[in-house]
Amino acid sequence: QKQGFVDTFGRQHTYLRVSVTEKCNFRCRYCMPEEGVSLSPPKNILTKEEIVRLLKLFCFYGVNKVRFTGGEPLVRKDFLDIVQAAREQTNAKLAITTNGMILNKQLEALRQSGVSGLNISLDTLVPAKFEFITRRRGLSTVVDSIFKAVQLGFPSVKVNCVVMRGLNDDEILSFCYLTKDWDITVRFIEYMPFEGNKWNTNKFVSYEEMKSRIIREFGTLQKQRDDLHDTTKHFRIPGFRGRLGFITSMSEHFCASCNRLRITADGNLRVCLFGNKEVSLRDYMRNGASDDELAQVVAVAVKNKDFALGGYEDMNGIASNPNRPMIHIGG
Ligand code: GTP
Ligand code: 5AD
Ligand code: SF4
Repeated sequence: QKQGFVDTFGRQHTYLRVSVTEKCNFRCRYCMPEEGVSLSPPKNILTKEEIVRLLKLFCFYGVNKVRFTGGEPLVRKDFLDIVQAAREQTNAKLAITTNGMILNKQLEALRQSGVSGLNISLDTLVPAKFEFITRRRGLSTVVDSIFKAVQLGFPSVKVNCVVMRGLNDDEILSFCYLTKDWDITVRFIEYMPFEGNKWNTNKFVSYEEMKSRIIREFGTLQKQRDDLHDTTKHFRIPGFRGRLGFITSMSEHFCASCNRLRITADGNLRVCLFGNKEVSLRDYMRNGASDDELAQVVAVAVKNKDFALGGYEDMNGIASNPNRPMIHIGG
């Protein structure tokens, strides 16, 4: 085991998020512009072999957790093969972030492949709103897949809910009740600005506001332990089985304990969700770079990582500068 990828702030990068596709079977408003996004030419998307090569390399340098994202990762044809190769050829903990639409029939295979964490996006419990937000139908399918994931015994099942004022902020309490009998974590995510997603401060609902609305209903929230590198502040409603979480990227960023690196579907290393400095690992690989050379490229990029928010001052700074749409980054 080599010394890992450490940045100039002493942050060791042990968590890799790999986007396996730019495609998605949904068209969520907060994730992509109305007109959709242009897809990279297929030859620019990393092959299974290239992804597995990078996974092995990053794990050799200290990565111990890999999360597959997209687009929607499950729409990639050889996704299960990638997961199985990751299982067999690395020791990393494996997790997936998915919209849950075609999850149901893949759940058992994923469970058998040793996937331990499933984060499933769900922003509303009202069918018409679901159709408005995702521009697709499928609420009951997604809800079913969440409950089936719990029944199959995945160690960690989390629901990701992006809260937007005037759209779904009236459903915060309904989402809280999902944790009454189910041992899941429902996470309320502050709406973040990305290219073409129509973010503005009027639609933004802060952590403080969400929390005080919940406390008004339930009287109190019990703080739960957070892991060192968590994006999430965890709580429990007294007497409820599951947990609530808040992802406060905008109002209280958690960059000081960041341990994340990202690889986009087209093979770019991205050292920060909000940072646009990317380097093409695909080009290096296709030009015959050795593993040592690749590691050197990663090390340099990590040394250039900004302390917080990709170098921007705050959410308005992020919003007023160009960025990739979320679907191209993978969250
Ligand atoms: P785990 O902690 O591994 O469960 O996952 P996660 O919460 O990091 O990942 P997930 O893909 O479920 O994303 C949930 C929300 O957190 C999304 O809105 C992501 O954009 C956001 N998020 C994930 N990673 C980062 C990050 O490094 N920085 C910030 N600011 N937000 C992040
Ligand atoms: N703000 C906050 N979270 C977002 N996600 C996608 N777009 C945004 C945004 N603009 C979330 C999705 C998914 C995760 C990968 O990122 O809901 O759960
Ligand atoms: Fe890490 Fe950048 Fe996210 Fe901050 S904004 S936690 S530095 S990826």
